[in-house]
Parts: sequence; structure tokens; C-alpha cells
Amino acid sequence: MGSAAAATSFPLFLLVSTLIAASTPPSSAAAAQTPQDLLLDFKASLQDPSGALSSWSRSAPYCNWSHVSCTSATAAANATVSVSLALQGLGLSGELSAASLCRVPGLAALSLASNAFNQTVPLDLSRCASLASLNLSSAGFWGPLPEQLAALPALVSLDLSGNSIEGQVPTGLAALGSRLEVLNLGGNRLSGVLHPALLRNLTGLHLLDLSGNQFTESELPPEIGEMSSLRWLFLQGSGFAGAIPESFLGLEQLQVLDLSMNSLTGAVPPRFSVRFQKLMTLDLSQNGLSGPFPEEIGKCLMLQRFEVHDNAFTGELPAGLWSLPDLRVIRAQNNRFTGRLPEFSGGQSRLEQVQLDNNSFSGVIPGSIGLVRTLYRFSASLNGLNGSLPDNVCDSPAMSIVNISRNALSGTIPELRNCKRLVSLCLAGNGLTGPIPASLGDLPVLTYIDLSSNGLTGGVPAELQNLKLALLNVSYNRLSGRVPPSLISELPAVFLQGNPGLCGPGLPNDCDDAPSTKHRGLALAATVASFLTGVALLAVGALAVCRRLHGGEPSPWKLVLFHPVKITGEELLAGFHDRSIIGRGAFGKVYLIELQDGQNIAVKRLVNSGKLKFRAVKNEMKALAKVRHKNIAKMLGFFYSEGEVSIIYDYLQTGSLQDLICGPKFTVGWKDRVRIAMGVAQGLAHLHHDHTPQVLHRDLKASNVLLGDEFEPRIAGFGIDRVVGEMAYQTSMASDLNYKCYMAPEQSCAKNPTHLMDVYSFGVILLELVTGKPAEQPASHDDSVDIVRWVRRRINVADSEILDPSISRAARQGMQAALELALRCTSVMPDQRPAMDEVVRSLQPLCFSVHPQTPLPTEIALEP
Ligand SMILES: *[C@@H]1O[C@H](CO)[C@@H](O)[C@H](O)[C@H]1NC(C)=O
Ligand SMILES: *[C@@H]1O[C@H](CO)[C@@H](O)[C@H](O)[C@H]1NC(C)=O
Ligand SMILES: *[C@@H]1O[C@H](CO)[C@@H](O)[C@H](O)[C@H]1NC(C)=O
Ligand SMILES: *[C@@H]1O[C@H](CO)[C@@H](O)[C@H](O)[C@H]1NC(C)=O
Ligand SMILES: *[C@@H]1O[C@H](CO)[C@@H](O)[C@H](O)[C@H]1NC(C)=O
Ligand SMILES: *[C@@H]1O[C@H](CO)[C@@H](O)[C@H](O)[C@H]1NC(C)=O
Ligand SMILES: *[C@@H]1O[C@H](CO)[C@@H](O)[C@H](O)[C@H]1NC(C)=O
Ligand SMILES: *[C@@H]1O[C@H](CO)[C@@H](O)[C@H](O)[C@H]1NC(C)=O
Ligand SMILES: *[C@@H]1O[C@H](CO)[C@@H](O)[C@H](O)[C@H]1NC(C)=O
Repeated sequence: MGSAAAATSFPLFLLVSTLIAASTPPSSAAAAQTPQDLLLDFKASLQDPSGALSSWSRSAPYCNWSHVSCTSATAAANATVSVSLALQGLGLSGELSAASLCRVPGLAALSLASNAFNQTVPLDLSRCASLASLNLSSAGFWGPLPEQLAALPALVSLDLSGNSIEGQVPTGLAALGSRLEVLNLGGNRLSGVLHPALLRNLTGLHLLDLSGNQFTESELPPEIGEMSSLRWLFLQGSGFAGAIPESFLGLEQLQVLDLSMNSLTGAVPPRFSVRFQKLMTLDLSQNGLSGPFPEEIGKCLMLQRFEVHDNAFTGELPAGLWSLPDLRVIRAQNNRFTGRLPEFSGGQSRLEQVQLDNNSFSGVIPGSIGLVRTLYRFSASLNGLNGSLPDNVCDSPAMSIVNISRNALSGTIPELRNCKRLVSLCLAGNGLTGPIPASLGDLPVLTYIDLSSNGLTGGVPAELQNLKLALLNVSYNRLSGRVPPSLISELPAVFLQGNPGLCGPGLPNDCDDAPSTKHRGLALAATVASFLTGVALLAVGALAVCRRLHGGEPSPWKLVLFHPVKITGEELLAGFHDRSIIGRGAFGKVYLIELQDGQNIAVKRLVNSGKLKFRAVKNEMKALAKVRHKNIAKMLGFFYSEGEVSIIYDYLQTGSLQDLICGPKFTVGWKDRVRIAMGVAQGLAHLHHDHTPQVLHRDLKASNVLLGDEFEPRIAGFGIDRVVGEMAYQTSMASDLNYKCYMAPEQSCAKNPTHLMDVYSFGVILLELVTGKPAEQPASHDDSVDIVRWVRRRINVADSEILDPSISRAARQGMQAALELALRCTSVMPDQRPAMDEVVRSLQPLCFSVHPQTPLPTEIALEP
């Protein structure tokens, strides 16, 4: 059978080896310990709930174990081989002991980052004589920073960031001397003084991160300026005060300098930055710095980010800044900058964000703004800009946010036809006149419109009803006439106030004549049209399936299993019948198939997969199958037939989150909802943060969240784009009318997918959990209920209407916090959404207690 060879290709040794290991009696402790024994000892001190280390067993050379790598796989017994343990993000916990680990010959790198230990940094790590890289970042360590680590004779990189390490940084670390290249202590609770003797000795550092601590030190230590190899310097948010030391000018290799969120004062030293020829990011924001900004910044040709917001800078922004070839971000808001805005350098410019709000800029907005093709955000509110709004202000194909409120603009609002990605348009508090352009209603993702406090005349265009608006503020203008009915019913009327000429139900001025029925007719026509399109698409899909099932002679197929599953290709094919369909998504149907031995599998059949090449599919599938996490659905294998692909997942009895929410009554308690949210967040964070290249889900929705025992969730359906290819992926997603509400607004027009789109989808799921309502209800006579829209419309009115009333009031506070998090995640503007690791941290306080880990479903044995 052609498939058998493929089936045994890669994963089966795991199981076989586990069986052998189980039948081998435990070795006697007296025997000389091999590296394998030592590593197994170490493993025994860990709790590994997801079985990530299940391949660690005596029957395979340890260099073949997962998460272990050796410089040479054949040199397992050679003392000079160098061994790396990459154990990050595996959900490990337990009482870590490094005693045996450090005796593993050649142990060069150890990462335990992003796990769930709850202990002090083990002192015996200092016995790892050959350890060059130690990464304990975000792994739950607390207590003091042990001076003993200075005894590590080979240490080059030390990352303890994101823990709760407290007390002083021990001066004894100076013994690490010039060998140490990376010292990351960011995001801890370190305090006290940084001893000059320590800083003076660490002359080899490339990266120094002391950010997010609580040093009681008043000034920035000038010794840091002597670390002439520094490329990355992070000192933000650690309570530093006083001036920026002159010595920092010596840091010629600097690429990133972040001094933000301290209490620094005084002027930026003159000559600052002439020497910074490699500087890419400069962040001095949120301090008390003053004076004009040195002109030489215009000579930092590599500069990409210039952030000086929330200080007290005066004078003009350095002219050279605007023409820097690589500059992406200028954030200078909340200062006292003056002068005119220079012309942008048009097509050459790579500017993405320009934020100048709350300064004293004057003059006109340069017409060259429309020539910058990359500009995504332009905000200059609260300045003295005058003249008219350039009609190309959002010609950049990326432009999403325009905020020029509270200036002195005059003239009319131009037709903004090119703003296909404009999300937020804020022109409040100017002297604009004339009508609101009806063409605003054609901008596909426009969500916030604030035109209040101008001199606008005419009516509120009916076309605005086409938009999925979260805010429309046209108050305090001179508008008149009937307000389109759906705008009134959906938005609190205060946003219309101050326009005595406006009329409509609920307004002080009720219109006299009978409501026109014209728009209702139009809306009905549109609904019918979209329904017909849907039917047509379904028909095309069905045809494609039939052709494949009945076309010609039996096709050659291949079944590849990454885990032991008792099924043959024929059985799988036979399982593809309508009775076993349990779901339909953008990519096709999902079948539930019960195997002879009682195991259930879910098979996702990708209808649009077209003419995929087996080899390419196999490579991608292999990569996806390696993603292992307690909150990621196990991909058991895949089935390939004539370019069409079906993915086989382990099926969990409880079904999906969608089944639960859409069930007769969604009665799950708050504690379990938090557990679901946390699990999904952790799974997603694992995809985003623990893989290079990053794995994006791109189709996260309640039906892709499978639930196991005690509601422990597992995410399925990720990375389909990598299997079917971008084109087919896009086509399928576009044809799926049902799950649009999980899609971030920018998704339909963005060039590249981003992790922040997944964050949006997660936010929608969190809203479902908080409200108890499905994300989208089938279209009723009115319009479908899109949960993001539903919540946004009520949020200004009363939160209490939003939270699921079936949950006891005791949980209110937690629900409120979750709601706020969900709103941030579903922010229209991607850069306001938190990353998934931050989401996980925000959810942590909501978990009532640490739940015991649920056991994994037992794997069935493979027949010989
Ligand atoms: C160990 O891995 C190497 C290279 O991947 C492979 O050739 C070898 O067969 C593996 N050994 C065992 C016992 O699995
Ligand atoms: C094994 O170690 C010896 C010295 O102990 C060294 O000469 C040899 O190159 C090493 N072999 C490998 C493959 O690392
Ligand atoms: C860590 O352990 C202490 C007691 O040993 C316990 O009180 C605390 O809740 C634990 N923290 C976490 C995050 O598990
Ligand atoms: C430590 O591990 C984390 C998580 O894997 C990673 O993001 C970080 O870059 C690592 N630190 C160093 C210095 O490599
Ligand atoms: C500084 O480092 C050198 C080696 O680079 C070492 O000899 C010296 O003892 C260190 N100083 C301190 C105070 O540890
Ligand atoms: C404007 O900036 C100043 C600091 O320059 C700050 O104190 C003030 O709060 C800001 N105003 C607004 C509305 O943000
Ligand atoms: C626009 O700027 C004003 C004034 O700075 C601010 O209050 C408002 O929140 C901004 N609007 C948006 C949508 O960012
Ligand atoms: C804009 O303001 C400046 C003074 O700041 C004034 O000289 C100029 O005439 C104004 N331009 C327009 C078009 O109002
Ligand atoms: C609408 O605009 C008016 C006038 O600028 C302002 O007072 C009011 O707060 C705005 N409402 C909202 C919800 O932004």
C-alpha cells in the first residue's frame, strides 16, 4: 500500500521508543551516569503536563530527543559535543533542580523561558561549567538574583527578564567581566543602586536591559556610556531622574536607545546623535526633557523611530528629520514644538506614523502628505494649523487614522475617495464649512467619524448608513434635515446635538412628514442580492466536491499520520458522507469519523485546495504537527488525494466553543469561561511567540476552539494558509460570509497578515464569553448581530447591559476587566491591540486559582 511508507516516515519512533522505555527496569543509581541518565534525572524534577518531553527516553540517543540539539548528532558520547536545551514555552513547572543537568558534558545553552516555575533561581545552575547562554525569561522565578551565577566561567548571555526577581543587582556579577555580551534583567523588581564597579567591568555588553524595574537610583549611571560595544540599551520605566549623561555620546555602536518613562530632565546634550551613525530607534518619550531638540539627529541616516512625545521640548522639530531615508515613526505629541510642518519627501519617504498632537505648530498642512505611500497615521490635533484640508490627505494606500481636530482649518471637507483603509477621521473643532461628503459612506472600513464643532451645513448623508460605525459625532454644526433612520436608532442622539435644523424620531425636532420607504426597499434588495450570491457560491462548492468524488477511476491517495491512528485511506474516504458532517467553514466541511477502536477523529477537508503538490503539503503539515501545546489541538495527520488535502485532528468529546455558545442555553460559569479564555490565549501566545518564523492562526473563531475535559480548550484550524497557499486561502476566506465578525477590519485590505489580526479574533471570542452571546447571529429581519458592533454601541451607555446577566454578580469585577481587555483586543486600530503574551498576563489575575492540569487523552497503541 502506497500510503504505508509515508505513514511511518517520521513520528512512529516516538511511540515505539516510549514502549521500550516503559519495559526497561530503572537503572541503578550507583552506575556511572551517562548524559542520558543525567538529562532523565533532570526531567524527573519537572512537571510536563503536555508531554513535550515524552521523546526523552533511553532508547534513542539524547541528541535525537525533542528540544535537545547537539552540534553533531553522531557525537553523542563525545565530551566535546555542545548541547543546547531549548525548553521554552512548554508549560513546564515543578521544583527545578540543576544538579544533574550541570553534569551533562558540553551543556552550552539552556532556555527555560516562558514556563510556569514558581521558585527562586536555582543556585546549582552555577555549576554548569560550559554554559554560555542561560535564558530564564518569563518563567515565574522570584527572590534575589544569585551572585553565584557570576561563577559561570563560560557565560556570554544571561536573560532573567520578566520574572519577579528582587533586591539589588549583586556587584559580584562584575566577575563575569568583558565576556558577557547579553544582560537582560528587564521587567523584574530589582531595586537599589547599580554599583559602578559592576558596570565598569561589563565592557563587552552588546545588550543591556534594566527596564521596568524599580531602582531607587536617582541618576543614569554615567559608566554605561563606557560600554562601547553596546548596541541595544533599554533603561525605560525604571525611575531614573536627572540629565542624560554626556558619556552616553560615546555609545557609537548603539542601534536602540530607550530611556522612555523615567523622570529625566534638562536638555538633550548638544552633539547628541552626531556619533550615532547606527541608531535605529530613539525613545526619550514620557520624561521631563526640555529645550530644542539637537539638529544633528538629521544625520542619523539609519534612524527608523523617533519618539520624544510627552516632554517639554520647544523650538522647531529638526528639519533634517523629515527627510531621513528610513524613518518610519515620528511621535512628538504633547510638547511645545513650534513652526511650520515641512514638505514631506514624497515617494522616497517611508514614514508610517506622524503624531504631532498638542504642540504649537502653525501654517498649512503640506500638500505633499498625499505622496507618502506608507503613511498609516497622521495626527496633529490641538495645534494652530490653518488653511484647507489637502484633498489628498489620505491618498496613502495605508492611511488609517487622520486626526486634525482642534486646529484652525477652513474650507470644505474634500471628497476622500482614495481612503480605502481609513478607520478614523477626526476633524472636530475647526472652521470647516459646506456639506458632509456623501462619499464617506463608500469608505469600506471607516468606523469613527468626528466632525463636531465645525460650521458644516446640509444634511447627514444617508450613505453613512452603509458604514459599520462605532462613533458618529456631528454635534455643534449647522446641519439640517431628516437624520437617516438607522443612524438615529443605533447611536445615542447626543452625537447630533447642537444642530437645531436636524429632525427625526428622538430628536427635539420630530420631522412632520411620513418616513420615506425608499431606503428600506434598497436594503431589502441588498439582502436578497447577498443571499443569492451566497447560494451561488455554495452551489459552486458543491459541484467541485461532486466532481472529485465521482470523477473517473480511483485516484491515488496518500495517508500520512504523525500519531498512531487506526484508520486506512479507504475508511477515511468512506467516512466522507453528509451524515458525519459536524461543521462547515471557509475551507470546507469538517467530518467526525469514529474508528473501529472507538477513537473519534475530526477531519477537515479543504475543498479549495486545488492542485497542491504532495511534497510541499507534507513539509508544511510536518511543521504544523510539531506545534505542541496543551491548548493546541493535536494534528494527527493528513490525507492527500489528487491535490486535495484533508487534515486529521484528535476529536474532543465536548465539541467546540461555538456548539456551546449556540447551544440551547449557554450556562457555563464564569470560572470556566476564564479558563477557556486563558487557554485560548496561551495557545495563541504559543503560536505567536514561541516559533520562528511566527505561526499565525488566521482563522480563529469559536468553532475552531475545541473543548476537552473541564473546558480546557484546544485551538484547531491554524496555519491553513500555509498548506493551501495564500491565493486559495484568500479566496476561501472571502467566500465565507458567516464568520466575517471574527475578522479584523484591516484584514480585507491589508497586504500582509499580522499577529494583531489574530488578537482581534481572540477579542471577539472574549466578547462572546463575557456577553454570553454568539459573535454573529443569523440575519434576522433587521440586520445580523455582530458582537463587536453590538458592544461598541452599548459601551457608552451602560456596561451592565453588556455583561451576561446569567452570571452571578460576584463575578462582576472580573467580567468587567475581561470586557475591557476584549475591547482593547478588538480595537479598530491594530497598534492599540495588546500582543498575546500581554493578554495572557492580563488574564492571569482573573483566574481564581491554579487549576490542576487536565490529563491528556491517552494515546492508543499502534499495532505491530
Ligand atoms: C537520530 O537522528 C538521526 C538524524 O535525524 C537519524 O538518522 C537517526 O536514525 C536517529 N536515530 C534514532 C535511533 O532514531
Ligand atoms: C571527540 O573528542 C575528541 C577529543 O576528546 C576530538 O578530537 C574529536 O574531534 C571529537 N569528535 C567530535 C565529532 O566532536
Ligand atoms: C507560588 O507558590 C506560592 C507558595 O508556594 C503560592 O502561594 C503562590 O500562589 C504560587 N504562585 C503561582 C503563580 O502559582
Ligand atoms: C529568551 O527566550 C525568550 C523566549 O523564547 C526569547 O524571546 C528571548 O529572545 C530569549 N533571550 C535571549 C537573550 O536570547
Ligand atoms: C572585572 O573583570 C576582570 C576580568 O575581566 C576580573 O579579573 C576582575 O576581578 C573583575 N572585577 C570585579 C570587581 O569582579
Ligand atoms: C498637552 O501637553 C502638555 C505637556 O506639554 C500636557 O501637560 C497636557 O496635558 C496636554 N494636553 C492634552 C489635552 O493632552
Ligand atoms: C483626536 O484628537 C483629540 C484631541 O487630541 C483627542 O481627544 C481624540 O481622542 C482624538 N481622536 C481619536 C479618534 O484618536
Ligand atoms: C495661517 O496662519 C498664519 C499665521 O500663523 C498666517 O500668516 C496665514 O495667513 C494663515 N493662512 C491662512 C490660509 O489662513
Ligand atoms: C461630540 O462632540 C462634542 C463637541 O465636540 C463633544 O462635546 C462630545 O463629547 C462629543 N461626544 C463624543 C461621544 O465624542
